[in-house]
Amino acid sequence: MSSILPNNIIWETVKAVVKYGGIRTAARATGLRRTTIHDHMAEARKRWPGVLPESRSTKEWASGIVLPETPYSPAPDTAKAETELRRSQDAAKDWKARATKAVDERDALQDQLDTMHRLAQAPLEPLAWTPAAPSIMGHPTVLMPLLFTSDFQCGEVIRPEEIDGLNAYNKDIFADRYAKIIDKTIDISDHHTGSNTTYPGIYYLRGGDAISGGIHEELRDTDDLSAVPAVQWLLRHEREGIKRLKDRFGRVRVLSIPGNHGRTSIKPRTKGYVSHNFETLLAWWLASTFEGDPSIEFYTPASGEAYFDLLGWSVLLAHGDRMGSKGGRGFIGTIATIARGHQKLYQNWATRGRPLDYIFTGHLHTSVQTEHGWGNGSVAGYSEFARDIGAKPDAPKQWLFYMHKRWGISQARELILDDLPKRKGAKG
Ligand SMILES: [Fe+2]
Repeated sequence: MSSILPNNIIWETVKAVVKYGGIRTAARATGLRRTTIHDHMAEARKRWPGVLPESRSTKEWASGIVLPETPYSPAPDTAKAETELRRSQDAAKDWKARATKAVDERDALQDQLDTMHRLAQAPLEPLAWTPAAPSIMGHPTVLMPLLFTSDFQCGEVIRPEEIDGLNAYNKDIFADRYAKIIDKTIDISDHHTGSNTTYPGIYYLRGGDAISGGIHEELRDTDDLSAVPAVQWLLRHEREGIKRLKDRFGRVRVLSIPGNHGRTSIKPRTKGYVSHNFETLLAWWLASTFEGDPSIEFYTPASGEAYFDLLGWSVLLAHGDRMGSKGGRGFIGTIATIARGHQKLYQNWATRGRPLDYIFTGHLHTSVQTEHGWGNGSVAGYSEFARDIGAKPDAPKQWLFYMHKRWGISQARELILDDLPKRKGAKG
């Protein structure tokens, strides 16, 4: 039992034996049993060997002992030492397990490194590649160009001083920009679609709002051409444009739909949308101009929307004012309006059993691609109205597409007809 007693109790017993000169006298003085004191002394010898002299004579032993001034040198606390020993042993086990695991991981990583090293050293066999057959590689690419024109708004006047110099527009500027449309269409087709491209003809899409039409009071007050003279002005220029397209592409198919600006009434109307429209007159007049020329065909649907098949792809040309989507003043602007309108048109035509592959609309003067097609920019460009609704300034733009029989519209080019606002601003 004495082996688990604390050091100080054992030492107190030693001091009592020295003080009273022996075990018997110490027992008498302290009331402890002699056997107890004897056990404590034996334990003291074990704990502090060399401190207590060996003697069987208690009296002699006690008289010869000189206890150190320090009561005793701290001896190991056996119980505590055993606890710490167990802890150390547990910790050692734990560290050993960790070390074993770390060694295993290191060995696994080393194996991976060795494998990677072997792979890196191995020669990489060249991929067996067979070039496409000459009949494919050398075969010319057949593309059908689609020149999508809309929103000329010919007759409108835009005064640069009213819009910080970002744009100017009148009938002469229209003429310049229209000539650029034709020039760029021919130039891109000649030099920028690939060196081995052929064209079976061209589609010339007329998407409405060719004239300003004076449909609002402010337009009537400021236009430099009212509806009828504007039609005549357009006839001169578009007739020349169609001739030049025919000269380059051999065949021209002209699809015409009117826009809201060409209407003959002040208020919009749903019945007679096409027949009550100056732009329909212009389409008929253009058609009559080329009557007798089988290389130029005209299609002017009475519904005001042109649905046609092109190389197996279903295409819809609509002006965009009747697609059930208006507005566009939110932070996302007209893009959301166009995307929503295209979705409605797609659903409408799908219900008729005619799902559309491509939809082209104008009207909102925003050059953008949507999930279903494209919205066209305008030839008139940034205006006072665009400024007032917070539209982002943009250059006058029109789209030119190239349709591939297998890949559909494989190229879409923006024809930029005047400097972008950044350059306009820099000039100003
Ligand atoms: Fe319009």
